[in-house]
Amino acid sequence: MSSGESNFSERIVRWQKTSGRNHLPWQATRDPYRVWLSEIMLQQTQVSTVMAYYEAFLLRFPDVTQLAQADLDAVLSMWSGLGYYSRARNLHRCAQQVLLQHAGVFPRSARELQELPGIGRSTAAAIAAFCHGERVAIMDGNVRRVLSRALGFGADLALAANERALWEQAQALLPNADLADSMPRYTQGLMDLGSRLCSLSRPSCSDCPVHELCVAHGAGETQRYPVRTRKLKRTSQSLWLLWAHDDEGAAWLLRRPPRGVWASLHCLPVFDSEASLVAALPQRLRASVSALPALRHVLTHKDLFLHPVRMALSKREALGLEGSWFDAAHWPTLGLPAPIRTLLGAAN
Ligand code: ADE
Repeated sequence: MSSGESNFSERIVRWQKTSGRNHLPWQATRDPYRVWLSEIMLQQTQVSTVMAYYEAFLLRFPDVTQLAQADLDAVLSMWSGLGYYSRARNLHRCAQQVLLQHAGVFPRSARELQELPGIGRSTAAAIAAFCHGERVAIMDGNVRRVLSRALGFGADLALAANERALWEQAQALLPNADLADSMPRYTQGLMDLGSRLCSLSRPSCSDCPVHELCVAHGAGETQRYPVRTRKLKRTSQSLWLLWAHDDEGAAWLLRRPPRGVWASLHCLPVFDSEASLVAALPQRLRASVSALPALRHVLTHKDLFLHPVRMALSKREALGLEGSWFDAAHWPTLGLPAPIRTLLGAAN
């Protein structure tokens, strides 16, 4: 298929109308605040998970001003369980920039949107296409697969120059007419094709509106695309968690540093070995700890093995560690990592 193939976008727009997703909550609006929020939530999270968080978040923070003026902790707590918390910190910073530098109105163009925290090139394009019909191409993982197959684009996408070349071809495929309607439909259509039909291992080519134009399908080589050599190696890490609690269930929590795992969230004190956990305690308390069974928590590129170590303590006792006591009633308002929330919740 040549990258100027106008028929391609028309077919996708038509298919999206009849067979795509048309009732997702963020499709009922062209309000940039709502569209932006949905796109950030959807960056690394499935639609079914985002649905529940999206409505609750909007009830709590109905517009960009209220989000900008909220405490970061309140934002992190509404994000708790969605993971990738840098998204929530950037969301908060972005809202503050929109309020202070753009008088509370999101800029319209993808180029300007991309200057804001947490908004990359593809997210900026999605917001501008959905809200204003801007003629600009998105490129997330699903779309990369659809387009590299359709175009027969076999260059290695691990190289930035090849990724840029694919993006240029994507730009040439965009609709040319009736952009206010066609750009949102086409953009959503590519996403819908990628998630519903053009799957990684078993694409449903016979249902696909562009299979007659698709180079990979024509050659019987859908498995050849996309080409990407760099593979991220999965790693694992063990962490020991000191769970000091008083007889009413309050827990000693501290705020994590702004970088690394669970950045800026509240958490039990974390150690990289049992020995270092014990060494951090005053001598007289060392005998009173008891290890709980380890839990596994799966992140995208890492398995975390969590080893909780419980210790009963009076609130008057000074732990000699950073942090403070938090009653159970206070936990729901804190940004806590999901496995820590589950762990603490199991005891109350
Ligand atoms: N993934 C990223 N953006 C999306 C959207 N608007 N609809 C469905 N899935 C998405």
